[in-house]
Amino acid sequence: MRLDRSFELDRKAEQIDALAAKRKNVIASDQMVEGRYPVFAERAAGAHFWDVDGNKYLDFFLSYGTVILGHADPDVDDAVVREIRRGFAVGLMKPVQTELVEELLEIIPGAEMGMLLKTGSDATGAAVRLSRAFTGRDRVVRWGYNGWHDWCAQWDNGIPEASRELVDTFTYNDLDSLRALFERHPDGIACVVMMPFMVEAPEPGFLEGVRELTREYGALLVFDEIRSAFRLALGGAQEHYGVTADLVTLSKAFANGYAVSALTGRADVLRTLEKVHISSTYYSNADAMAAALATIRKLRSGDHLAHIWRLGERLQNGLRELTAKSGVPVAVVGHPPMPFLDFAMGSEDDNQSAKRVFYAATIAEGVFFHPNHHWFVSAATTEADIDQALDAARSGFEALVAAGWTTEALGARS
Ligand SMILES: Cc1ncc(COP(=O)(O)O)c(C=O)c1O
Repeated sequence: MRLDRSFELDRKAEQIDALAAKRKNVIASDQMVEGRYPVFAERAAGAHFWDVDGNKYLDFFLSYGTVILGHADPDVDDAVVREIRRGFAVGLMKPVQTELVEELLEIIPGAEMGMLLKTGSDATGAAVRLSRAFTGRDRVVRWGYNGWHDWCAQWDNGIPEASRELVDTFTYNDLDSLRALFERHPDGIACVVMMPFMVEAPEPGFLEGVRELTREYGALLVFDEIRSAFRLALGGAQEHYGVTADLVTLSKAFANGYAVSALTGRADVLRTLEKVHISSTYYSNADAMAAALATIRKLRSGDHLAHIWRLGERLQNGLRELTAKSGVPVAVVGHPPMPFLDFAMGSEDDNQSAKRVFYAATIAEGVFFHPNHHWFVSAATTEADIDQALDAARSGFEALVAAGWTTEALGARS
């Protein structure tokens, strides 16, 4: 697989485009699997995309999970084009805004009101600001990936100490670690913002326990369902696990790739918006709202999520058979619509080395599994695609065995 054009464009981009210079460690073209992953895409359709060198990939990355119906879905794109042709940026509300919020209130548990924003970080940031204003408290407890703003950035560089001091995190599936934070700051925590799960599933009673603790200490519970809503179930992890938060952030899958996010939840909390500053010039733009409305209506009208679950289960079961047969210490993890492989070679360095071997083999067969981010299945993925994905994974596991990354060989080495 030649990637000459990708790397030629990348050499230019990294000189002038700061995001391009940094982004390498996201797709990890040279860091993770040296020289094997494409950097520039040309086009995409359904479950596939093509890079600028003309290589075709079966896509399990799906633009960070935003694309649920498949790339360039005609129903969604036509709805957007219609909205664009009617003038989508007027600055006043367009009816599609109310229609979309109405739709969200029907689907998302606990949604008495909603508001539309642009990005995921907008929605989580708004949830935090509203929670602070509503409770009159400053502290935030968070878990998972919640965006890039000061209160939740992954790296400390560029974040004032004073901001960092107000935010704590806890251990997933460990209620005691959360209780300890509440005991340390019984009247100080405005909200707990958390992804209901990332890869590991919640243990029975865990989400319910978080719900109880937040109530007990007068803090709001915010579920960050930016990845899970409209994918795990239409109503997200709240619907799947039967636990309802005070506020919920939504984005990604509900607009099939277009930039829109939402915050839904308790009306009394959302009405606090009257007293805080959250606004953007682009919040009233209707193009992505039209995309969201078309995406949701299509998801509601068919058995798309059942299809995604079924294929995700097939993929996970097939991967489990392959790992068992090849004897490699790799676990198949995640929920079926968002599967992933957990490498347990002994050390982080060994994990990275083994991943390099596996993912070099799968990308060579044209299957785009992301090495560092859980994967996604789309409604456009077919049974034949799962066959191809499992064939590629078989090559990956064979490469691991050939390179000596089996449980037996690792045991003999240690
Ligand atoms: C769970 C979750 N929350 C928040 C965000 C931030 O969204 P954005 O990148 O659109 O700001 C993401 C993005 O990946 C996410 O997955």
